[in-house]
Amino acid sequence: MRIDGKVVLVTGAAKGIGAGIAGRLVEAGARVALLDVDREALGAKHAELAGGDGAVLALPADLVDEEQTRAAVDVAAAHFGRLDAAVNNAGIAVYGTAEELTTEGWERQLAVNLRGAFFVSKFAVPHLRAAGGGAIVNIASVHAFASYAGALAYDVSKNGMLGLTRTMALDHGRDRIRVNAICPGYIQTPLLDKWLAGEADPEATMKEVLRWHPLGRIGTPRDIAEAVLFLISDAASWITGTTLVVDGGLLISGK
Ligand SMILES: NC(=O)c1ccc[n+]([C@@H]2O[C@H](COP(=O)([O-])OP(=O)(O)OC[C@H]3O[C@@H](n4cnc5c(N)ncnc54)[C@H](O)[C@@H]3O)[C@@H](O)[C@H]2O)c1
Repeated sequence: MRIDGKVVLVTGAAKGIGAGIAGRLVEAGARVALLDVDREALGAKHAELAGGDGAVLALPADLVDEEQTRAAVDVAAAHFGRLDAAVNNAGIAVYGTAEELTTEGWERQLAVNLRGAFFVSKFAVPHLRAAGGGAIVNIASVHAFASYAGALAYDVSKNGMLGLTRTMALDHGRDRIRVNAICPGYIQTPLLDKWLAGEADPEATMKEVLRWHPLGRIGTPRDIAEAVLFLISDAASWITGTTLVVDGGLLISGK
């Protein structure tokens, strides 16, 4: 599948799923703006993906900050002369039950995962409209459908992303802006490694996680990137306001 010339902004593009998405989109002929708060990892990913033709742009920014985010989206559109799609992928996981979570933890979780996606979407809409339409893809999670003990704030943030997806799809459909979500299952990334490292017996936990996936393996960033590519492409031109679960069958296993 090719999306030659389309301009796509990907958040959290320095590592993990976002890096996989950015790489796949570049392969498919897109011009890609990489947004991330981790300047060092962003520089390395930019150096890896940039072919010297200006088709890849690095945007260091913290999505929690409205002005930094507005500036980054505007710089991407100005650099490439248009914006065709935004992928809200950046996210963190703050664990804890209602009793355990601090106010700061709750606020931080929602600020990065939800407010950041809101800012990017808000500032992308005028550019997408000016381009004659476009796509927003929100990376939610299976946590939007299934509940996982001790992941209250994370689960709320991912449920919120589905609300953001549906209502924005309704509000901006007439501008030919399509808004969809992807719900990944367990994907091999630094975020997953960090979660595993916090488990009492990471090896046993991984075995258990594999057992939950009918396809017998956890996902790769590339598995998610293929779905993003499809939703951005014109092949998905009549798909909006919906959610694509990409989880190796995790949800049907009841986990
Ligand atoms: N890994 C999984 O198993 C999994 C499963 C379902 C959903 N997800 C979701 O996929 C997305 C990516 O997850 P991942 O596993 O690749 O995570 P990751 O931690 O490996 O990478 C996340 C990237 O986002 C960036 N980021 C974090 N906060 C930011 C901020 N305030 N501003 C700008 N950039 C910021 C980080 O620097 C990092 O490069 C997240 O939204 C996550 O919730 C992950």
